[in-house]
Amino acid sequence: MSEQIKFNLPEREIPEAWYNIVADMANKPLPPLHPGTLQPIGPEALAPLFPMELIKQEVTGDTWVPIPDEVRDIYKIWRPTPLFRARRLEKVLDTPAKIYYKYEGVSPAGSHKPNTAVPQAYYNMKEGIKRITTETGAGQWGSALAFACNLFGIECEIYMVKISYEQKPYRKMMMNAWGATVYPSPSDRTNAGRTILGQDPDSPGSLGIAISEAVEMAAGNDDVKYALGSVLNHVLMHQTVIGLESIKQMEMAGDFPDIVIAPFGGGSNFAGISFPFLRYNLTEGKQIRAIAAEPTSCPKLTRGVFRYDFGDTIGMTPLLPMYTLGHTFVPAKIHAGGLRYHGAGAIVSQLLRDGLIEAQAVDQIESFEAGIQFAKAEGIIPAPEANHGIAVAVREALQAREEGVSKTILFNLCGHGNFDMASYEAYFAGKLSKHELTQDEVDAAVALIDTPMIPA
Ligand SMILES: Cc1ncc(COP(=O)(O)O)c(C=O)c1O
Repeated sequence: MSEQIKFNLPEREIPEAWYNIVADMANKPLPPLHPGTLQPIGPEALAPLFPMELIKQEVTGDTWVPIPDEVRDIYKIWRPTPLFRARRLEKVLDTPAKIYYKYEGVSPAGSHKPNTAVPQAYYNMKEGIKRITTETGAGQWGSALAFACNLFGIECEIYMVKISYEQKPYRKMMMNAWGATVYPSPSDRTNAGRTILGQDPDSPGSLGIAISEAVEMAAGNDDVKYALGSVLNHVLMHQTVIGLESIKQMEMAGDFPDIVIAPFGGGSNFAGISFPFLRYNLTEGKQIRAIAAEPTSCPKLTRGVFRYDFGDTIGMTPLLPMYTLGHTFVPAKIHAGGLRYHGAGAIVSQLLRDGLIEAQAVDQIESFEAGIQFAKAEGIIPAPEANHGIAVAVREALQAREEGVSKTILFNLCGHGNFDMASYEAYFAGKLSKHELTQDEVDAAVALIDTPMIPA
């Protein structure tokens, strides 16, 4: 028989618990600070925005958090997701490296985002919440939450970054099809949106601005809560189903990764695939490299600073210890909308600071080239965000060829690009250019940050 390329698990292998890496970290992330008093806050400060069960998960010290049966039942619609050996890509690259990818694009929304949208909607439903607000960049998170809210009979109100709203009209239709209402952000519905429009009526928007709008809407209403698609500890934890399944699938393949790679916006799909593998580093002394791939136009991990910063632009959220370019930084209008975020989650930031993970930056031309090379070899057309991870996987595979060593590389193909054809069209028409922040631009962005420093 020819060699196997697809490794599938049966439904009974859907994980029964999420993995909380904080339990295994020697240096825990620093506590969040109150945006007004700048003092550490307890879980109760998050109560206006999130249901209690998610707040408990945000601060839990347990290693494993059980996944409710109702959530596992919904996961069955698309989980376990397949893991592939990219044999054709290996051949094209003429590399001794073995390349595997976990494919999260088989979910109804087309990405990893429903892995956390479903439990978030579930816990809100359990606590009687009738409406959830959120932001969305590329539209992947918004469509995932629209899908999940619909399953539990919750209204869903979405602030979509204006540039993506214009670039990706079909993502909006998906959200509408699942019953959600979508507004381009900045909008005139909120004080935050009106403030930004007052400063710049043509603002393309950013995830930070859209978060301000969604948070403002939830904070002002008792039966409305807010959901975030990345950054927070509980969101990263929900995504660990990706890595937990991958461990079993790599076993089926008779292999184990030396390098795990994922694109990085706020850190959720990177955490999802890498944390269960990093557990072997933290508890058994293995040395798996985990590499986050970010855009050169929004390089918070590779060129940002580690300090407290807001999650949103206006400064309404608690301050988190993070690698950041500053909460007022508005990234260039690149086509990987989901990676246009100024900061990173507290856990991934602490891991980076401690040298336990790595980061590389990729410009949009290199990332589209890698995505198209992948599509030609393997068939699936990736989301522009996912292309960043593929580009780093290609770099590592070519490096292995240069060194003449066989490495095993696993990357997360976090979503398909079937609704991102406008981005591909722009690339094919030669309308995209290599974009990298200059040092002056990084310095200027960082100089604006006025939030508390973290001593070295
Ligand atoms: C397809 C896709 N990949 C990656 C990301 C980045 O987010 P995260 O770092 O939380 O995975 C997004 C965010 O919207 C996305 O839509």
